[in-house]
Amino acid sequence: MSNKLIIAIDGPAGAGKSTVARIIAEIFGCEYIDTGAMYRAIAYKCVQRLVDIDDDDELNELLDETEVAFKDKKILLDGRPVENEIRTPKISSVVSKVAEKKAVREKLIEAQRKIGEEVSVVMDGRDIGTSVFPDAQFKFFVTASVDERADRRYKELIQKGYDASKIEIYTEIKKRDEYDTNRTLNPLRKAPDAILIDTTKRTINDVVDEICERIRRS
Ligand code: CDP
Repeated sequence: MSNKLIIAIDGPAGAGKSTVARIIAEIFGCEYIDTGAMYRAIAYKCVQRLVDIDDDDELNELLDETEVAFKDKKILLDGRPVENEIRTPKISSVVSKVAEKKAVREKLIEAQRKIGEEVSVVMDGRDIGTSVFPDAQFKFFVTASVDERADRRYKELIQKGYDASKIEIYTEIKKRDEYDTNRTLNPLRKAPDAILIDTTKRTINDVVDEICERIRRS
């Protein structure tokens, strides 16, 4: 197991994990690893290449020739930045189906563990505290009401210039959470020893302060 500092932040879609995790990483001088971006990058490539993800051979072939990495806090797919491409509503609607595939999870979890062995990290995702780093020194499970999460995602998409519908986003987020929670492999779960933080009606600063306080206190 890693001897570096690992801060695991898990939770459902749109709970504000990435914003909070990014700030916590700055404060504690760690790398920030957005594992959702890694799953999104693979999903994006599958869509681009019209890969049938239920065909094991096709999927394995794609995985064999795919490299997902981070450089300067940005996700790289085969060496190319894909930060915007992976966050479209289309990718959000397919990513969970790609993320439940064993071969995909094995590849990405191996990469995530390797990063955590090399540098101190704040890693956000669904299964960091339960599967990727069950021995992480700090574990948080960050959540918020579905209403608020949909509202935040709606504002984010509008700001990026997408023609988003609040009801569609609400439905997509609920569906994705259900899918992520009910899958067989590494489902979305709060680790028993993770600290639960409900961010509903709370500001980012407030949540960051609570997490920092809990880390410093222990
Ligand atoms: O940003 P958002 O909350 O919408 O989700 P994300 O963190 O970008 O994750 C996208 C999807 O990747 C999730 O809905 C999961 O299906 C999958 N994922 C996963 O299976 N395991 C992780 N550690 C992170 C993400």
